[in-house]
Amino acid sequence: MRKLKNIMVTGGSGFVGTNFIRYIFDKTDFDGIIVNVDKLTYAGNPHNLIDIEKKFGTKRYFFKKVDICDYKNINKIFKQYNVDTIVHFAAESHVDRSIFGPRDFIETNIIGTFNLLELTREFWAGKEDVLFHHISTDEVYGSLGKNGYFSETTPYNPNSPYSASKASSDHLVRAYFQTYGIPVTLSNCSNNYGPYQFPEKLIPLMMLNMLEEKPLPVYGDGKNIRDWLFVDDHISAVWTILNKGKAGETYNIGGENEWENIKLVNVLCEKMALLTGKEKDYYKKLIEFVKDRPGHDRRYAINCDKIKNEIGWKQSVSFDEGLERTVQWYLINKLWAANIKNGSYRKWIDVNYNKRNISLQ
Ligand code: NAD
Ligand code: DAU
Repeated sequence: MRKLKNIMVTGGSGFVGTNFIRYIFDKTDFDGIIVNVDKLTYAGNPHNLIDIEKKFGTKRYFFKKVDICDYKNINKIFKQYNVDTIVHFAAESHVDRSIFGPRDFIETNIIGTFNLLELTREFWAGKEDVLFHHISTDEVYGSLGKNGYFSETTPYNPNSPYSASKASSDHLVRAYFQTYGIPVTLSNCSNNYGPYQFPEKLIPLMMLNMLEEKPLPVYGDGKNIRDWLFVDDHISAVWTILNKGKAGETYNIGGENEWENIKLVNVLCEKMALLTGKEKDYYKKLIEFVKDRPGHDRRYAINCDKIKNEIGWKQSVSFDEGLERTVQWYLINKLWAANIKNGSYRKWIDVNYNKRNISLQ
């Protein structure tokens, strides 16, 4: 078991990063510090961690509003907190946005990752008790036909600017291990769902549209397949890798839980109907088939035997339970979604973070 002390989490105010930080403080015996480095793009919302900041701030939790492309400020943070572990979530993460505007994806996902790697080269040369963990996606492997699974040895074949930028960053991370001996691990995970997911992604978008009785846009014929994993199971896998993963290795993470989009949307309609007191098929009438996403990968499916057999991780939340918890969370936290939809979360960030120039504290 590795001893983790000073962890730099990048992108900790986004969906998976938020859940990761909450998990570490709530569910593990970690007793070190976490520095959350986040640029606060449209997808970053530090209010997600306001209770953590109140409870652990000034002693064990620190927030820095910094772009991972900003070498000078990241360098300062690295020195100030004597970082020994990086958990690198920060990314532009939405495929549709990458189709309409790929530049930010290239900058953050490739140049940003390169920057962080350069810092490890400067600060970690010859050190052994350090680790760079890179969070990646199953999308780097491209698209599957009806059969087969992605494994850690599947050749890369990305199809969107998003997945191409993530593939690029994966290659850089691996190259820094081979060339400079920086201890790195990588994980490639399937589709996550759960609390705090930005409502541009399929599951929260559909739920919030149902609540407003708006159309539920299903791309193409709705038969594209994704493998769904409850976000806490992704986090527990990352935690297992941080503690027990072998340097230089990649671990695939998945739910072994494949769903055609249209079937998933139907199930979600039923769950929402049950939990909002409507009749079973009430929301299904809102489903609309719309123009397909360009380059839309047909099927993703993960073989995650390696992480299970070599370092002892497994999923613990069934799809039924995970969906129920997710729907309940969005129903209880209607204000969270409303603040995103009406833009007031940006005003809150402006007052509480931008004006305080948090990066210089
Ligand atoms: P997200 O879009 O919800 O959050 C991304 C976070 O990164 C935001 O807080 C944003 O402000 C921050 N960020 C963006 N650019 C930055 C920059 N230049 N500098 C500093 N911070 C920046 O994304 P997510 O869904 O939480 O995904 C997190 C990571 O997990 C990504 O690397 C993504 O590729 C990977 N991943 C996500 C899923 C999924 O289903 N969500 C699945 C597999 C892998
Ligand atoms: O596989 C892991 C990836 O999962 C992550 O790397 C990405 O960061 C994450 O965004 C997610 O990518 P997807 O493109 O699979 O997720 P999204 O929620 O955008 O779409 C899921 C499926 O639903 C996909 O087949 C497209 C479809 N879809 C999506 C939206 C937003 C629709 O049919 N209608 C929609 O409105």
